[in-house]
Amino acid sequence: MKTSAQIGIIGLAAMGSNLARNFANHKVQVAVYNRTKERTEQFISNHGNEYIEGCYDIEGFVQSLEHPRKIILMVQAGEAVDAVIQQLVPSLKRGDIIIDGGNSQFHDTYMREKNLGKIGIHFMGCGISGGEEGALKGPSLMPGGSPESWKALKPYLEKIAAKDFKGKPCVTHIGTDAAGHYVKMVHNGIEYGIMQLIAEAYNLLQIWPPQPAPEIAKIFEKWNKGKLNSFLFSIVPPILRKVDDVETRSKTYLIDRILDTAEQKGTGTWTVQEALDLGIAIPNIAEAVFARAISARNKERETISENFSFMAPHQKTHSVTDFHKILENALHISILLTYAQGFDLLKTAAEKYNWKINLAEIARIWQGGCIIRAKVLADIQKTLTNKKSSQELLLNSAYFVKESKTSIEDLKELLHLSSETFVATPVLSASLNYFNAFQTWCSPANIIQAMRDSFGAHTYQRTDRKGTFHTDWNEKH
Ligand code: 6PG
Repeated sequence: MKTSAQIGIIGLAAMGSNLARNFANHKVQVAVYNRTKERTEQFISNHGNEYIEGCYDIEGFVQSLEHPRKIILMVQAGEAVDAVIQQLVPSLKRGDIIIDGGNSQFHDTYMREKNLGKIGIHFMGCGISGGEEGALKGPSLMPGGSPESWKALKPYLEKIAAKDFKGKPCVTHIGTDAAGHYVKMVHNGIEYGIMQLIAEAYNLLQIWPPQPAPEIAKIFEKWNKGKLNSFLFSIVPPILRKVDDVETRSKTYLIDRILDTAEQKGTGTWTVQEALDLGIAIPNIAEAVFARAISARNKERETISENFSFMAPHQKTHSVTDFHKILENALHISILLTYAQGFDLLKTAAEKYNWKINLAEIARIWQGGCIIRAKVLADIQKTLTNKKSSQELLLNSAYFVKESKTSIEDLKELLHLSSETFVATPVLSASLNYFNAFQTWCSPANIIQAMRDSFGAHTYQRTDRKGTFHTDWNEKH
């Protein structure tokens, strides 16, 4: 077999196939291999061309690749990744590179990189965002790993990546070992937060006033032309207008037939677990994960709701137009706070794991291809590039102060209105609490310290003197 392919791809499910086609569309020679040969045959018969070579055994696949070999694994995260690595290793040479393009747990990526490094093989954990369409037309790519492997992959990844707002490829070297998969994990956490915010808005819009899905579609369409412009807002109107083709006699919208239980594969939960380990508050993301957990308990929700059927939503006092404006501003500030929490976690993780993550670059590569691409990322990138604010929270930037001046009052008003509806707004509420907790120089944690010292002699510090203090709180004066 000739040694000609520049990139190898293992795994021809939707993401792997589309990635292979994306490389081929950019005139990159790709060799593809899938565990079941029928899938490879089918892929070649549907999409084969001069740039794609189908391989039917792993040895032949490996031998078809030029040196150093660059093999992208597009298999399910978890055991399948280790199984494929084990199969590959005996045929590989020092300097070859394995790239894991799945949503792998970053701890796994860290171990794989270290273990393969011992035998001279580079391992890159590469976050790939954008779903099937992104994989074909241009994803946002988040590769981590050694600088050598990045140097070898850079020209190829830059070819297939989406473009940022200035036309540059949405890919950058994130950092060593597991940094790429870590950033993808946080990307997904932010994705959970924003999706839940959209769900909360949709919920409120169904009540004030009661209206069918296509009417709500119009509101999202309008919002998507303004500051909320983003991929996630853009996919909502077609979703809300989709007619259920199972129902032929009366016009029913498919959205109204979908079971209200959100599933999850784990990246949102991992983000929250990480935040807990590092002591960083990301309440918007945590509440979004919890909201999915509650949604899954649909049987219990059904019986509980019967007990509370007397709770009717109150009439709101604002005009519909005002309400939409209030909701738009509340969503805007809540989305900014969700990004701020994600970037705060990334900043802390970079310090803890010794990664040189350039936060402004992350805001740049998320501008195209990925699920959380949004207009607002231009401002976030600018803010994180600004020398004065780069070391600080996004929350401390002049940009955020300006945006909150115009929006925070509306978030307050929205929560006031939504409490009248008995509609759960966990992420909208978490946004205001997060903002309130950070915008005060005086938190009530002094009484927490006093209580800890009272029942457990845990000691406390004082504002007026240095040292550690303990008090007998029940001693009579
Ligand atoms: C992406 C997505 C992608 C996937 C999520 C879904 O960036 O392309 O994030 O990775 O859609 O993992 O996650 P859940 O199944 O947990 O919602």
